[in-house]
Order: sequence, then C-alpha cells, then structure tokens
Amino acid sequence: MIASECVPFAKTGGLADVVGALPAALKALGHDVLVVLPKYGAIDPDQHGLRRFFRQMGVWMGDAEEWCAVDTARTKGDVPVYFIESDKYFARAGLYYDEDRNDYADNPRRFGFLTRAGLQLCRDIRFVPDVVHVHDWQTALAPAYLKIWHWNDSVLGRAASLLTIHNIGYQGVYPPDDYDYLGLQWGNFTAEKFEDHGKLNFLKGGIVYADLVNTVSPTYADETRTPEYAHGMAPYLNNKGKDYIGILNGVDYSAWDPAADPLIPAQYSRHDLRGKAICKQALQERLGLDIRPETPIVGIVSRFAEQKGLDILADCIADIVTDMKVQFAVLGSGDRCLERLFERLPARYPGRIGCHIGYSNELAHWIEAGADFFLMPSRYEPCGLNQIYSLKYATLPIVRNTGGLADTVVQYDERTGSGTGFKFEALSPDAIYYAVGWAVSTWYDRPRHIAKMRQKAMAQNFSWEQSARAYVGAYEQAIENKQRL
Ligand code: ADP
Ligand code: GLC
Repeated sequence: MIASECVPFAKTGGLADVVGALPAALKALGHDVLVVLPKYGAIDPDQHGLRRFFRQMGVWMGDAEEWCAVDTARTKGDVPVYFIESDKYFARAGLYYDEDRNDYADNPRRFGFLTRAGLQLCRDIRFVPDVVHVHDWQTALAPAYLKIWHWNDSVLGRAASLLTIHNIGYQGVYPPDDYDYLGLQWGNFTAEKFEDHGKLNFLKGGIVYADLVNTVSPTYADETRTPEYAHGMAPYLNNKGKDYIGILNGVDYSAWDPAADPLIPAQYSRHDLRGKAICKQALQERLGLDIRPETPIVGIVSRFAEQKGLDILADCIADIVTDMKVQFAVLGSGDRCLERLFERLPARYPGRIGCHIGYSNELAHWIEAGADFFLMPSRYEPCGLNQIYSLKYATLPIVRNTGGLADTVVQYDERTGSGTGFKFEALSPDAIYYAVGWAVSTWYDRPRHIAKMRQKAMAQNFSWEQSARAYVGAYEQAIENKQRL
C-alpha cells in the first residue's frame, strides 16, 4: 500500500484513518501487507521508533536516477511501514501546502517520486506483491507505472493494481511540465489517459490504468457516475463498468469507543450512559458554553473545506441559536474565511456557540462524547468517519443524505422512534435549519425516542473486519482483471 497519509504518522483527514487501520485488518485475515509513506518533516522519528533501513535507494525519474533513504517502523498490528526520506521533497512542515495554504508547487514531483520509490522498494527488498493498492491522486500513478515500466519485471510483473478514491474533488491536475520527470511517456498524454484540457491529471490516469477502482461507499460510487458529483470523471468511471465499486470504510473502535476511550473525561457504554453527562458538562466548561445539562449540544468536527457545507451552515447558525434552545461545539480548521467566520461566533453568541479553530484529536474525542447531536451538512461525502464515530458515542448524526452519510445513518421515524439520526436532502440554509430543529424538538418533546435511537446507534457495528473482507474481494477481482489482459 502506498499512501500520502497514515495514522499515527501523518494525518489531515479520513484517508489517514483508513490507511492506518486497513493494513492491520488485512493482516488479521492472513494477508501480508507493507505500507509506504513519505517521511514528512512533521514525523518525529523518535516518537514513532523509526529505524534506518536503506541508507541509499536509487529511483529512476525521467532519465536520471534520484536518491533517497528509507526508514522503517512497525505500526498497528505489527504491520511494517517504510518511510521514503528525501529532504528536498518531504523535509517541510506541511503535507501538501505551506503556512499560507498555498499548495507546494512541486507536489506532482513529490508524489510521483513517492510512488516510484514505493515500487522500487518492493524490487530492492524482493517483496513480490499480488496487488499494489494506492489511494487518491497522490499515488494514483502506480497503476500506470506497473503497466508502462514493470509489466515484465520479476518482482512487480504480476502485481495487479487497486486505486481507492477517497475524494474526487482532488485530482492532482498540473501543467504537464513534469511529464518527462514523471516518466509517463508522451504517447500516453491523450484525452483517453493523462491529458485533461492540456494539463496532466493524476487521478484520471489512475482510473484509466488501474485494474480495479473503488471509492469509500456504495452511494458515493453511484453518485460519482453522474456529472453532478464526478468533477469531470464520470465518463472514465462509467467506462470501468463493474470495475468501479463502493466499499464502505470501517472505523477503528480501538480508538473510537466511549467504553474504553482514554481521552474523554468519563467512559460510558450502552448499558450505562452516566459518563456521557460528565463528558457533556466538561465540554461545556472547556468551550465556554452555559452549563446546562438539559440543553442539547450540536457538535461539529471538520476540515473547513467547500465539501463540508459549513458555509451554508454559516448562513443559518445565527437563526438556529436565536430561535432554538441549543448549543454548538465546533472544532475545525482549513479555509481562512470560514475560520474567521466561526471564530467570531462565540463572542456574538456567548454561552451558546463554542468554537476552537485548529486541529486537536483530543478535543475531537471530547466533542464526540460530550455533544448530543453531530452535524455534517456535506455537499458531498465519499464516506465520512465522524458520523460513524458519533453513532458509537450516542451522539445522533444530523446529516445531508449523500454519499457515505446516506449509507451509515438510518432516518428517524417520528411515529415509532426507530432510526439512528436525522437526514435532510436539500443543500440550503433552510434545510439545515429545519433538520436541526427536528432533532432539537425531538430532544425536548420525545426524549424516549432519543433514548431509543441512542441504543440503536451504539449497537451499530462498522468494524474494519467487514470492510477488509470486501477489500480482499476487490483484490481478487483486480488480480483476475490483470490476468485477463
Ligand atoms: P475527511 O477525510 O473528508 O476530512 P472524514 O470524516 O472521513 O472526513 O475524516 C475526518 C477525520 O479527521 C476524523 O477522524 C476527524 O476526527 C478528523 N478531524 C477533522 N478535522 C479535525 C480537527 N480540526 N481536529 C481533530 N480532528 C479532526
Ligand atoms: C476523504 C473523504 C471522507 C472519507 C475519507 C476516508 O477525505 O472526504 O468522506 O471518509 O476520505 O475514506
């Protein structure tokens, strides 16, 4: 597996959670997995027990050999991880962009290099993979490299490729200046393969060359076959036919279970929810909210990106806290405008809106545990992990009915009290307002339904084992496709 993020080493979003958990789940099913990552400047070698593995490894880029070092460590489930060390590419603070949120100009080179280095490592240690599994645009060139360069190779010649799309909104589209360096051959710079309106599109090349492509929920797989959701990729995904599938992410319950979560103020479970009240009070204190056990808290933990729909929430959050007895607990960072907007809200609505701009895993756990509802008004959501964590924490999700949100949350039925959350369709301030209003009125008027939904939510099981089995099926399908070539 070659990837640009992996918990606990480097994370900006759910991709890291997936790459951090899936290999161990595969190993538990009897498979032999290794993971290749960049050695980012932000990774502390001592904290993670990195050891030098290769002092020098040569990687062919364009028509010159470039050199890197390789470190290794063991991660969850004793899976070996290899870190590609290249100071010129990875010894900097950010993963993808600088302090001003500008993408690093050499991203195509950085991740093209990572990808080729990952394949080279297999050769140098004679690890003969059945499948090379890559994630998102950053490593999407691997399927092409296997077919262009390694088809006859004693180590990689048999390897089938699986590309997982975690987010089609990021495709890695660049002027073709680095095309030679990346070694993709100009004959492939066509509209059917890498070329996209005169630019080089990493993800598109990955889709075309991979033996199998998947995304991280069945509904998002369906949605991305349509122009509305595909960001231009619908024709290529539709061309894959049955070789484009949806596999729902699992979640790592060893990190996200209130019964054993060491980061939250008090543990609790389905059988005894008293700890949740303690977590709620602690959260209210920490974020400067009024200490009111009877007032429901709506939690948000999110990257501030267009995808997440928080700009739409910004248009109705004032009305919500003015009209309803409800509080908000917000944690997020990203888009500067949204950061400024949300940062100002606590002063304007003291005691009712609490907000922390930044990245804090601990506070993310506190919000999951202390809030009563969890809001995700996403424009699109390939899978989404927080709503699944929320279920386990009895924090009922309020979500837009899209992608993985649609697949993981069961709509509340007001007559029977069944369901695990509140889903809405439209992407508008009104729709968010009414969905939150529906949850809040259920809280006050039908507390027995809330209790019933909490029980149902906490009993849901989205463990990795199930998803890992689906990935094994995908690997088998990819291998068959490769053999048919
Ligand atoms: P995405 O990958 O699109 O950001 P997911 O819901 O799949 O969405 O995963 C987001 C992950 O990142 C979750 O584990 C969530 O807790 C975490 N996360 C997002 N923003 C923050 C933040 N500001 N602080 C801490 N964790 C965050
Ligand atoms: C992406 C998606 C998110 C998904 C995550 C892990 O970042 O935005 O929905 O859960 O990847 O697959």
